[in-house]
Amino acid sequence: MTSQTVRWAVVGTSDFALDWIARGISLSSNATVAAIVSRDAARGAAAAQRFGAGHTFPSIDAIDTTVVDGVFLVLPAALHAEYAIAAARRGLHVISEKPMAPSVADCRRMIDAARAAGVVLAVAHCMEWTAPMVQARALLAQGAIGEVVTAGISASFTATPDPTWQHDDMPQRGAGALVDMGVHAVDGITRLLGPVRRVAALSGTRLPAYAGDRSATLLLDFASGVHGVLQSHYTCYQNGLELQGTEGRIWSSEWWGREFAGTLHLQRGDEVTTWQLPRVNVYVPQIEHVSQCVLSGATPVISGERGMANMAVIEAGLLAARGGGWVDVPAGQ
Ligand SMILES: NC(=O)c1ccc[n+]([C@@H]2O[C@H](COP(=O)([O-])OP(=O)(O)OC[C@H]3O[C@@H](n4cnc5c(N)ncnc54)[C@H](OP(=O)(O)O)[C@@H]3O)[C@@H](O)[C@H]2O)c1
Repeated sequence: MTSQTVRWAVVGTSDFALDWIARGISLSSNATVAAIVSRDAARGAAAAQRFGAGHTFPSIDAIDTTVVDGVFLVLPAALHAEYAIAAARRGLHVISEKPMAPSVADCRRMIDAARAAGVVLAVAHCMEWTAPMVQARALLAQGAIGEVVTAGISASFTATPDPTWQHDDMPQRGAGALVDMGVHAVDGITRLLGPVRRVAALSGTRLPAYAGDRSATLLLDFASGVHGVLQSHYTCYQNGLELQGTEGRIWSSEWWGREFAGTLHLQRGDEVTTWQLPRVNVYVPQIEHVSQCVLSGATPVISGERGMANMAVIEAGLLAARGGGWVDVPAGQ
């Protein structure tokens, strides 16, 4: 680490890992792709060459910690805890992709390992930096719609039916609509409105090809008393946000995405304001923020605790979907 640049190893070589995460690092002002970690030497070398990284390693244990400061884990979610703990024990800072880990217990282990090692732990809740979300937070902070009373959010896309998804263990593997996409919505709405105290849920879909955890609708009872509805499906595209307050409403028909501007509107009485939002590649401000935290010793806004709190809502939602009724979300793990 120089005084201004954090040297990251990207762990994983999927299209997403390279086209978005490694590229995001390479476009950032205070970070560099120093290494690629891959189980496949040829894939690792090709990726390293593409991003000008000087090193490839086959595992976390093999990383030369004199040339790498931190790891960005772009791995299947069920591996995040194992890799994060191994990296922290080696004194490496960690950004884990979302969902942080399939269980709250694994999230806790990641936080404990980072704390014991004195390294930064962040969870890649990249939608923190979408322009509609940034603008919506600013409007709420100004009290633009008075007291918020009700909210809705959705994050869904049409996935190709895949027979390997027929298993009941999708959530345990960190897969399924709620765990994979719903976590963006949970993160987004709790960032705007604070913690959720209990959850009721519907799961399942009318489309037989999409059995398993491919559809979820949650009823959210926020600690503040706000009522909320959250939807996440693999069977349709949804990208909506709506906040209703005593003095107006804020809504977006495109609040999440990778490199986009999105939409945001504010209505007060008959007056509607629509913003021209800037186009943002969310992975660039994400890595710049976490790198700045590594350089300064600050805690990232996308902290391990936030990642774990999101998974506590998801766990409660999965339980509610199976058992019916309301399930409490434990506060502050
Ligand atoms: N925030 C976002 O916008 C966003 C978007 C997409 C995905 N994600 C998240 O990113 C993470 C990775 O998603 P992905 O779609 O890139 O996953 P993926 O394609 O299933 O796996 C990513 C990489 O993990 C490595 N890996 C290491 N051990 C593995 C194992 N035992 N089995 C399979 N792969 C293994 C592989 O690289 P090597 O073969 O080179 O070792 C593989 O390329 C997930 O947590 C996902 O939710 C986030």
